[in-house]
Amino acid sequence: MCGIVGMIANENVCEVLLKGLERLEYRGYDSAGIYLANQEERSLVKAQGPIKTLTQKITPTMNGTVGIGHTRWATHGIPSEANAHPHRSEHGKVVLVHNGVIENYQELKATYLKETKLIGETDTEVIVNVIEHFIETEGLDVKAAFKKVLTEIKGSYAFALIDPTDPTHFYAAKHKSPLLIGCGTNFHLVGSDALAMIHQTNELIELQDGEFVTLTTDSIQIETLDGKTIQRAPFRAQIDNDSIDKGTYPFYMLKEIEEQPLVMRRLQQKYLAPSGESLISDTLIQKIAASDRLYIVACGTSYHAGLAAKTTLERWTNIPVEVHVASEFGYHMPLLTAKPFFIFLSQSGETADSRQVLVKINQQNLPSLTITNVPGSTLAREANDALLLEAGPEIAVASTKAYTAQITLLTILADAVARQKGLVEQLPKNLSQALSLVEEQMTQIVEEKEIIHQIVNDFLPTTRNAFFIGRGIDYAVALEAALKLKEISYIQAEGFAAGELKHGTIALIETGTPVIGLITDDATASHTRGNLEEVRSRGAKTIVLTKKSLAQTTDRFILPDAPDYLMSLIAILPLQLLAYYASFERGYDVDKPRNLAKSVTVE
Ligand code: AGP
Ligand code: GLU
Repeated sequence: MCGIVGMIANENVCEVLLKGLERLEYRGYDSAGIYLANQEERSLVKAQGPIKTLTQKITPTMNGTVGIGHTRWATHGIPSEANAHPHRSEHGKVVLVHNGVIENYQELKATYLKETKLIGETDTEVIVNVIEHFIETEGLDVKAAFKKVLTEIKGSYAFALIDPTDPTHFYAAKHKSPLLIGCGTNFHLVGSDALAMIHQTNELIELQDGEFVTLTTDSIQIETLDGKTIQRAPFRAQIDNDSIDKGTYPFYMLKEIEEQPLVMRRLQQKYLAPSGESLISDTLIQKIAASDRLYIVACGTSYHAGLAAKTTLERWTNIPVEVHVASEFGYHMPLLTAKPFFIFLSQSGETADSRQVLVKINQQNLPSLTITNVPGSTLAREANDALLLEAGPEIAVASTKAYTAQITLLTILADAVARQKGLVEQLPKNLSQALSLVEEQMTQIVEEKEIIHQIVNDFLPTTRNAFFIGRGIDYAVALEAALKLKEISYIQAEGFAAGELKHGTIALIETGTPVIGLITDDATASHTRGNLEEVRSRGAKTIVLTKKSLAQTTDRFILPDAPDYLMSLIAILPLQLLAYYASFERGYDVDKPRNLAKSVTVE
């Protein structure tokens, strides 16, 4: 949520900041702004709406050797120009951008800003003015005033700050929200993630919680708030600049859906030997094998990936698995078993809801693993172990390739833990070969995408609601299919256990309501078909997705046959495409659905 990019250099930084903001737009896009300064001039430009609206307001003469840009996902105050960042203090002494939430901003406002006239409603505007207040009333310089405010703040922040009278220095600080430093010759950057800076440099330094940094064109000074100097070497970000481009695709989401076969191959290559043996560290596998319960903690699509992988994990490892929504688990923790092991699933590795659980787990010294797509992300750093999804940057707000990568990696993990425990009877002979099959089948489904496009045109053009039903793993997939459809097409979509519909929700079925039945489970196929009959008798339009061996002539999409434990990987793909085409046909910006942001760094 909210993207920050800042730069200090010997030349105009405007273009670099705008490019960085475009790359960060997935983090928030309700408004944006940029501030530029050099010895002679200063400019602040803000716009409600996406980055392109901001770009249209930038004139070629705007120039600054230091600058900050921000793309916002509002937490305090409506999306508007007044609330857009950067925020300039009342008397213009400081300019600030922020990602996060200041929990005590009302108290700070009441204590320090009695005389100040605020123009918007954000927590950030309070902070920038408290900094100015300390400069004016206590005679502090900008840096000292900034540090003083940081010691009084409760909440989360990544801040980047400019002193308009001194374009030779640039300041930033972070606590809970992510911030990286980009290093170059005669320039430095800060950014919410590597994507914001990769077009300039891939030499990055992580800033950690409670740290403060002062940048000039040729120096980086990191310190803690109590003044201890920190030395930290840069790491090289392994992101290929090309992988961030859409190429010829109309939207990132379609590109990312179609990349899934490739992700299957990457996971196979990274985590499995050709013989099918796991390449994951033995120590990690032993730790998991020694536990008496696995607690998977995640949000949204990642939570759904946990649900889809639960059955395989339990069946193969013989360890009970609980899957929890992070925002609930952290504050209403169930009674834990004697030897719990925690698995955090998170595409971004930055989700605040998941992180608050990890913080509590760490306080209790309980073992944890983060499975994430982003190396060096907060959840990856703070868990005892981390495994990477190898899915490549996922830019569309709707998560697709990270979901299948999470299920796959959990399956690889289940296989390795079962082998460690000597439980080999139920395991595939060679998981690596099985994943090669999935890779081929996913490619085949992508080639048949026009069938899905047609289903959308036939059944979803004007509907206001839709239901996905299934049993067992099909139910887990139905939940994810419904989330995909609702988040990008705004059709009210719900996933239900097929048998549960008749216990209440069937009351919502009207003439023409689309009900999509997912049938890949041999044991319950006939029951789900029965449930589809029940809704059809009440006017629903039913659409069946099933596998080849269960197919009937009127079924609309036939999935290839695959072992049960791989079926969710194959079944979700046409349903991701269904959501994509539903959004596309309604003319929406598929990659940037309303009200959402990719990286949810507030609780
Ligand atoms: C996915 O389509 C969503 N927009 C969202 O539910 C997402 O999965 C959730 O916010 C969790 O994010 P994470 O995987 O980065 O932790
Ligand atoms: N709290 C700030 C605002 O509402 C930043 C929001 C965020 O980082 O999501 O403008």
